[in-house]
Amino acid sequence: MMRELPEWYYDEFIQVGTDYTDKEEILHYDQKMQKIRNIGSEAETMLRLIGLQQEDRVLEIGCGTGEFSIELSRHCKQVVALDVSEGMLEFAREKAKSKNRNNIHFTKGSFLTLEPDDGPFDAVVTQLALHHLPDFWKLIALQHVGSMLRTGGRFFLKDVVFSSEIHDFDPFISKLLQSIPEQVKDEMTREYILHIKEEFSTFDWVIEGLIKKAGFRIEEAFYENGFLATYLCIK
Ligand SMILES: C[S@@+](CC[C@H](N)C(=O)[O-])C[C@H]1O[C@@H](n2cnc3c(N)ncnc32)[C@H](O)[C@@H]1O
Repeated sequence: MMRELPEWYYDEFIQVGTDYTDKEEILHYDQKMQKIRNIGSEAETMLRLIGLQQEDRVLEIGCGTGEFSIELSRHCKQVVALDVSEGMLEFAREKAKSKNRNNIHFTKGSFLTLEPDDGPFDAVVTQLALHHLPDFWKLIALQHVGSMLRTGGRFFLKDVVFSSEIHDFDPFISKLLQSIPEQVKDEMTREYILHIKEEFSTFDWVIEGLIKKAGFRIEEAFYENGFLATYLCIK
C-alpha cells in the first residue's frame, strides 16, 4: 500500500505536533477520545453521509486507534486502514481483534504514498489527519485520494478548518482556550496550542478550493464552532 516517492516529496512519517508514535500517548489519546467525543454519533454521521453498502470497500487514512474503521467494518465488505504510526496501527489491530472484526486490513501508509493499484474504493474517509500536511501537499494528497476512488465514489473529510468569517483570531483563540472543560484543561490547552502553532490547519475557503481543484464536487459541508469542518465530496 505504499509507493516509492521522489526525494523532494514531503515526509509524512516525521511526526508534526503531537507525537502519535509514543505508546503512552496512544493509550492516552484513545482514552481521552472516548471521554471527550461522542464516537457513536460521529460514526453514525460518517456512515449516513457515505451511504455505505454491504458490498463496498472503504479506505480510511489516518485511522488512529481504529474506532472508525471498526464501525465501518460492520457495514461493508472490507476496510483498508492506513496510518503513519506503527504504534497506532498495532493498537488498532488489537482493538479490532478484541471485537472479532476480521475484515479490516491495518497497514502502514499515508496520503502521499497511496497506491492506485490497491483501488478503486467505493469510499475514502479521513478525520483529523489532513491538517498534518502543509497546503501545497494537501492538494497533492487530495489528488491521490481521488486516484483511489471509483467514479462517483464518496470522500468524507473531517478536520480542524478555520472559519474565514472570523476577522480577529486573537480573541477567538483566547476564547477557545478558555472554553476547554476544567477536567481536561491543562492537557487540552497544551494540545490546542501545539496544534495552532505547529500543525497546518487552514481556512474553509482554502480547503474548499483544494477539494474542487482535486476533482471533487462538494455535496455537503458542515461547519462547527468556527474551527471544525466536515465535507462529503463526490468524485
Ligand atoms: C488526531 S489523530 C485522528 C485519528 C482518528 N482519525 C480519529 O478521528 O480519532 C491523527 C492520526 O493521523 C495520523 N497521521 C498523521 N499524518 C498522517 C498522514 N500523512 N497520513 C496518514 N496518517 C497520518 C496520525 O498518526 C494519527 O493516528
